[in-house]
Amino acid sequence: MRQKILIDVDTGIDDSLALLYLLASPEAHLIGIAATAGNVPAAQVAANNLAWLDVCRAPEIEVALGAAQPLAIPLRTTEDTHGPCGIGYAELPASTRELSARSAARLWVEQARAQPGEIVGLCTGPLTNLALALREEPRLPTLLRRLVIMGGAFHHPGNTTPTNEWNVHVDPEAAKAVFDAFSAAPPQRRPIVCALDITETIEMRPHHLLRLAERAQSLPLEHLSESTPPGRSATSNPVIAHLTDAVRFYFEFHQQHDQGYLAHMHDPFAAAVALDSTLARTRPATVDVELSGTLTRATTVADWSGMWGREPNADIVIDTDPARFFDSMIAKIGDFARNRYPPHELATTPTRDISTAHEQGR
Ligand code: RIB
Ligand code: CA
Repeated sequence: MRQKILIDVDTGIDDSLALLYLLASPEAHLIGIAATAGNVPAAQVAANNLAWLDVCRAPEIEVALGAAQPLAIPLRTTEDTHGPCGIGYAELPASTRELSARSAARLWVEQARAQPGEIVGLCTGPLTNLALALREEPRLPTLLRRLVIMGGAFHHPGNTTPTNEWNVHVDPEAAKAVFDAFSAAPPQRRPIVCALDITETIEMRPHHLLRLAERAQSLPLEHLSESTPPGRSATSNPVIAHLTDAVRFYFEFHQQHDQGYLAHMHDPFAAAVALDSTLARTRPATVDVELSGTLTRATTVADWSGMWGREPNADIVIDTDPARFFDSMIAKIGDFARNRYPPHELATTPTRDISTAHEQGR
């Protein structure tokens, strides 16, 4: 039985890999993509998702536009982290696919009502649209089979301020609303929270990209390093080439911030957990979000031992095996890329000519 997934993203370089991971997973049935403002504005997020669906020669999958602004504060984006369009150096051909007629919040509400208990929700961006959906449908915590959230930081420094993490930083009111809404959820419905404590151990390095290209039989193989000159990937497989262009920007960003020539793969890790929760060891806690702190606004706080006298509302991931995740990601996306663009086809088609192959409906 394939697992129905509704993904809510702010695509984004690592969101792109989360999308690819799900598209490459036969056990996943991607029933919709909500485009949330975060790394870049919502309209750009939506365009990026439509364009990735083209590159991946994916079937029609609903992409719904989210709110333009967070619940209570002006939108802040981060093009310095994810690139001017949110996908690093990748330049994806504009898609002709249509956006959904309904909003991202309506997508959440109507899909959950139509398939009660069947959908795993995966949020890899700010929680704005899920919070709006909860206002319309307070039963969402029990209508969803499970919710997985990439966000927050607990016993770990923030990546946006000293104590807060980007997705919560963009819309802290939404994050608080979501955790509050799940306070009444039964234990098996608690959100699984992939916070920086864990996701910053998921360090993608050039050798992972190399293994991915090898698995996809994409040539030439490109050994990225700090000395890689500017310019786009010349490798033959369009999925691998665009992914390489996207991730290279992220490698450089982390390098510029003294973290090494690597990229934290926050979102694809959360996608992997959404499909296989055995990848994560979790611990229940009561999570709340600071809204009024001068220095600490948007900080996620976990009560692990009932000091607040409130029931746990989250299962926080406290351990994983990064190598197991990367083996899975490389196998899935590498095989997917090779199947979508068989090497013999690429021998006769100019690199990145996705339109030809797409028009042939393969
Ligand atoms: O803090 C990391 C998160 O913020 C990731 O989801 C990244 O894509 C950005 O949205
Ligand atoms: Ca994201």
